[in-house]
Amino acid sequence: MKWIRPTAPALIAVAAVAAHDLLQRRHALLRNFPVVGHARYFIEAFGPELRQYVVAGNDEERPFSRDQRRWVYASSKLENNYFGFGTDNDIEHSPSYPIVKHATFARVAPPSSPPSGQQAWVPCAKVLGAARGRPGAFRQGSVVNFSAMSFGSLSGPAIEALNRGAALAGCTQNTGEGGLSPHHRHGGELVLQIGTAYFGCRDEQGRFDLERLKDVVASAPVRAIEIKLSQGAKPGLGGLLPAAKVSPEIAATRGIPMGKDCVSPSRHAEFSDTDSMLDWVELLAAETGLPVGIKSAVGDMDFWCQLAELMAGGERGVDFVTIDGGEGGTGAAPLIFTDTISLPFRVGFARVYATFAERGLHERVVFTGAGKLGLPDNAVVAFALGVDTVNVGREAMLALGCIQSQKCHTDRCPTGVATQNSWLTRGLDPDLKSVRAANYITTLRRDLLKVSEACGVEHPGLIDADAVELLDAGTSARPLREVFGYRPDWARPSAADREAIIALMTATAPRGSSAPPSATAVDAGADRPPTADAAAGEWWRAVSVGPQRHSDG
Ligand SMILES: Cc1cc2nc3c(=O)[nH]c(=O)nc-3n(C[C@H](O)[C@H](O)[C@H](O)COP(=O)(O)O)c2cc1C
Ligand code: SF4
Repeated sequence: MKWIRPTAPALIAVAAVAAHDLLQRRHALLRNFPVVGHARYFIEAFGPELRQYVVAGNDEERPFSRDQRRWVYASSKLENNYFGFGTDNDIEHSPSYPIVKHATFARVAPPSSPPSGQQAWVPCAKVLGAARGRPGAFRQGSVVNFSAMSFGSLSGPAIEALNRGAALAGCTQNTGEGGLSPHHRHGGELVLQIGTAYFGCRDEQGRFDLERLKDVVASAPVRAIEIKLSQGAKPGLGGLLPAAKVSPEIAATRGIPMGKDCVSPSRHAEFSDTDSMLDWVELLAAETGLPVGIKSAVGDMDFWCQLAELMAGGERGVDFVTIDGGEGGTGAAPLIFTDTISLPFRVGFARVYATFAERGLHERVVFTGAGKLGLPDNAVVAFALGVDTVNVGREAMLALGCIQSQKCHTDRCPTGVATQNSWLTRGLDPDLKSVRAANYITTLRRDLLKVSEACGVEHPGLIDADAVELLDAGTSARPLREVFGYRPDWARPSAADREAIIALMTATAPRGSSAPPSATAVDAGADRPPTADAAAGEWWRAVSVGPQRHSDG
């Protein structure tokens, strides 16, 4: 029996595993099916990857389908992000499928050249902090910005890549609630988030420390402060960073001791209701000079009604409101919270917007949305519902190389994006990934600009609630205005803001037009804008930094 000797070690190993399986009591499956039962655990461990690469269709996976991920990956590399042959979405049978209505004739013509607009400046249509006269009021340079994700949930190189990317793309990076770390100091402008644990601006007892906040603000290009009330994936829930993950760098950034679990409480200690929250907002704004806003998921509407009532008096108010949808992301949260608590973006945002608009406040507040809004179709719907800017979280992580393996809570992120493990983070090159993050932002802005122009307006903020309809399983469709009960003057900036943004956009963004009219054209003598597409093509060749392969049709 020649085969026994070489296979003996393997047979002994199998026998040992079988003996272990039969004797252990934790897993009934293994006691009943020794050795072969392990296949089930093996397949379960690799389930996401197997489904992703082998089983799932282009539009099946969640949170982001293969098509959506492919669009982000290609955009971040400035590769061809077009899709051939036509849609593979089941438009006719998908309830609430959004359809954007293009204009046949309009005052704006989109440039024909596919990449034109890639480098266009698409600033916010409202000036943040202007309504309340904050000394640090400013027009955000980008309608798309990086959402709150802390150093701790993301790795140092990932935070650095986003910060450098923000500088390249002219957008802001939100620090997340984990404080302002050295990785946030690479030139990108910041929105400083303050969570319930006051990380980075707290004293040794964990109490909020105003002087520390002012020092942090003065030490970096912080343009606004966001008070985090909740996030869509886990509203009303505190957080815990286990002692083992509290590195010296995280301890220094957050202002916490080493060797102890780091707990974020579920509620703020500096205020206990809407009234005292507004006092705190005004205190922070007065002491720092910066615009101050809140971030929240949407559940019970009492809070929003009280806030709008108190703001209607005019003495106190938030400068911006960030609404996070229940479909939003997190580093780690219990399943019941990610799946069930808080309203999805469209429903929650529309309720909050209406609450402000009914009291005439919608033109005085900058509205930001988050919750899978880093995809052009979702973002267009959000603008049509009245957001002024969108924040992107997980889509930006995809641009950094995330493969949606959904292991962010394990500290074993294979791409180095969401881990503190130095072996895994060394694979993420901040130089390269910063360019990818910036390319993704500029491509999304370009698509938003092109869709706006297809709808006949100069800027995404001018797409209103009549321009998008929700299909009812292919048989009828209703405009967002009707679905969400918006009044005619809602979901648009004020007349003055509209005028200002149109002036800015027509001065800076590349414009399209038609070919010169023939002698028999009906309005041949009419004034037409000069043909700009040829110029846009030249301009693109001058600025393009990556391969672009588009073909006709
Ligand atoms: C890894 C990770 C960390 C996050 N950390 C924070 C945070 O510190 N503060 C916060 O308000 N939201 C946090 N969020 C939520 C995001 O800012 C964002 O609101 C949410 O993911 C929805 O955007 P998205 O769908 O584009 O990811 C985090 C999300 C992720 C994925
Ligand atoms: S690749 Fe990393 S960041 Fe992306 S889902 Fe997996 S664990 Fe999370």
